[in-house]
Amino acid sequence: MNRIKLWDKEFEISLPYTEIHKAIKEMASNMKQDLEGKEVLFICILNGAFMFASELMKEMELTDAEISFLKLTSYVGSESSGVVKELIGLNEEVTGRTVVILEDIVDTGHTMQEVIEQFKHKGAKEVKIATLLYKPDALKVDVKLDYVGLEIPSDFIVGFGLDYNRRGRNFKDIYTLVKE
Ligand code: IMP
Ligand code: MG
Repeated sequence: MNRIKLWDKEFEISLPYTEIHKAIKEMASNMKQDLEGKEVLFICILNGAFMFASELMKEMELTDAEISFLKLTSYVGSESSGVVKELIGLNEEVTGRTVVILEDIVDTGHTMQEVIEQFKHKGAKEVKIATLLYKPDALKVDVKLDYVGLEIPSDFIVGFGLDYNRRGRNFKDIYTLVKE
């Protein structure tokens, strides 16, 4: 599909699945080299990162890895509210561990900054960030991104896990909002 309509808005295809998949395969191979031999705890940030995390894990096939899920939200509609809330807590012990956060997209960077702080506070030995997408022009805070799939413009997108008011997460391609 080249165009989709979600609620009142039109979106057009901007990143086909083939490109997304290629980026994830490259990330997986870089990450495997760095992380093989470590007992890594991957944290998938729900809801947005579910597709990315699934594909990355399948491509990486890391030996001593564990994966867990954390639910946060900082978005209302298509504008960042800047408020990060932890909705589902973490049950795993993180003290002294290598934690790798799996995120769909880094926009202002506030979410990742807060997540890193929370894990450091819980005693993680190191916290790394792996994000499928990154909007460099939108970044507002100083946050180190260890692994980035694709850099994209600061336009609002949906698909491959990303939503507009809860819809659009199910598409395998990524679509950009058509400006009226
Ligand atoms: P940040 O805290 O501003 O970096 O926002 C990160 C979160 O905002 C991501 O985890 C997404 O859930 C959401 N987000 C940022 N940009 C977009 C977008 O273009 N479409 C959908 N959600 C987005
Ligand atoms: Mg997210």
